[in-house]
Amino acid sequence: MALKEPETYILSIDQGTTTTRAMIFDHNGRKVIEASKPLPQYYPQPGWVEQDANEIWNSVLSVIASAMIDGSVHPEYIKGIGISNQRETTVVWDRETGNPIYHAIGWQSKQTAPIAKKLIEDGHKDLIHSHTGLVIDSYFSATKIRWILDHVEGAQERAEKGELAFGTIDSWLIWRLSGGKLHVTDYTNASRTMLFNITDLQWDAEILKLLNIPESMLPEVHSSSEVYGTTENYEFYGEQVPIAGAAGDQQAALIGQMAFKPGMIKNTYGDGAFIVMNTGEEPQFSKNNLLTTIAYDINGKLKYALEGSIFVAGSAISWLADELRIIDNVPQSRQAAMKSENDDEVYVVPAFNGLGAPYWDQDAQGAVFGLTRGSNREDFVKATLQSVAYQTRDIIETMEKDTGMKIPEILADGGASRNRYLMQFQADILNINIKRAADEDTSALGAAFLAGLAIGFWDSLDEIVEIYEEGRLFEPQMEAPRRKRLYRGWQNAVAATRMFKV
Ligand code: G3P
Repeated sequence: MALKEPETYILSIDQGTTTTRAMIFDHNGRKVIEASKPLPQYYPQPGWVEQDANEIWNSVLSVIASAMIDGSVHPEYIKGIGISNQRETTVVWDRETGNPIYHAIGWQSKQTAPIAKKLIEDGHKDLIHSHTGLVIDSYFSATKIRWILDHVEGAQERAEKGELAFGTIDSWLIWRLSGGKLHVTDYTNASRTMLFNITDLQWDAEILKLLNIPESMLPEVHSSSEVYGTTENYEFYGEQVPIAGAAGDQQAALIGQMAFKPGMIKNTYGDGAFIVMNTGEEPQFSKNNLLTTIAYDINGKLKYALEGSIFVAGSAISWLADELRIIDNVPQSRQAAMKSENDDEVYVVPAFNGLGAPYWDQDAQGAVFGLTRGSNREDFVKATLQSVAYQTRDIIETMEKDTGMKIPEILADGGASRNRYLMQFQADILNINIKRAADEDTSALGAAFLAGLAIGFWDSLDEIVEIYEEGRLFEPQMEAPRRKRLYRGWQNAVAATRMFKV
């Protein structure tokens, strides 16, 4: 497809856990072209999840090239670059050579669980929660940095000498795009490291000391929407394009959903599912194990959010296809679930990497309940899809408890939101409306908005809100007694799962 020039565009890089995408957006917020590439993950030991940071970078170069070639977009028409990234995943690299000193440790990885456990046992729960808004878990970057410094020979000493740099994926990509000139991150990504004080808006000296992590390794923290610098011309077809926006993908999706008002909530159904509520200008510290995190900082206005993180959502559906092979591909899960005739007695609890919010049970393992001689493949697929909706209800109920407000609707996006069975069951089991975004790639759109606002491609949030496009609405249809019975069954299944420890 040839694009009309000289229209100008924003390039958005969406670096996700299993896929890297590049999308080019026009002034109407319309995606004019996209390219994507799957990304391998490595499992060196049970529970460990690693990626190759150079492979991540090369996948970014490759999707940018494909999008620009397929869309016939000349680099000079790209006016700004925004980045949305898988969060928490940790890269430590040599400042001199630019080479990572170890694989990137993935956000789901459990190899640092003993470090997290020790912090809990040593009584640091309250300190960490009150400073960072997070619960202590191997999910966040802090224990991953500690692990790399402990396991790569000489790393601690080199870090202390200032020779090593740490970054989440945004930071790593900006470093590479700028030819090693910029070592920065944004508030949203910093708030996922478990090292950032979300009230003082600084790296937290007390926690750094506790974990013996030298501050010199850490990137400079900036707003989510500003010109951090430009691409090095040899990294971007001879052009110095402003790198002007960055946010963790879940916060970027909140922006892409235009959830700028306090109380608005989105759920992104990706490999995991992440429910984020805009809570406005003050951080609200959860009493029920939700995370307090930074939503964004645009035009000097910093907003906080409450988040419930589900570790396994869409990846459970991929597991049905890739490992169990009971469906050929992910889209087939919908037909299979629709064919199931049982009365929902099967429950799959996909605790493959422990359980996230609101349980934070690092040791929980996946389980299936309610099988009978008549249970079949369709029932199993349906139960797996339903597990995503049940986990979401666990979090929505916790959010209601924390905020004392009744949540009226959820804005849905992400790959698995394409599944109509899942969306309808979600509306049914929550008894609220689910508004699915017109285009599921809201993270990339959010990153484009961030970059576009910084360079004046769009003037204000008001201008952005005007280009909002309605998606599809799913309204609840289930009778109350059935809803109650099904959800009670799920709660029993989770309780039983948590009791079982190998
Ligand atoms: O916190 C992890 C999250 O950012 C991963 O998102 O879309 O790559 O599954 P995704």
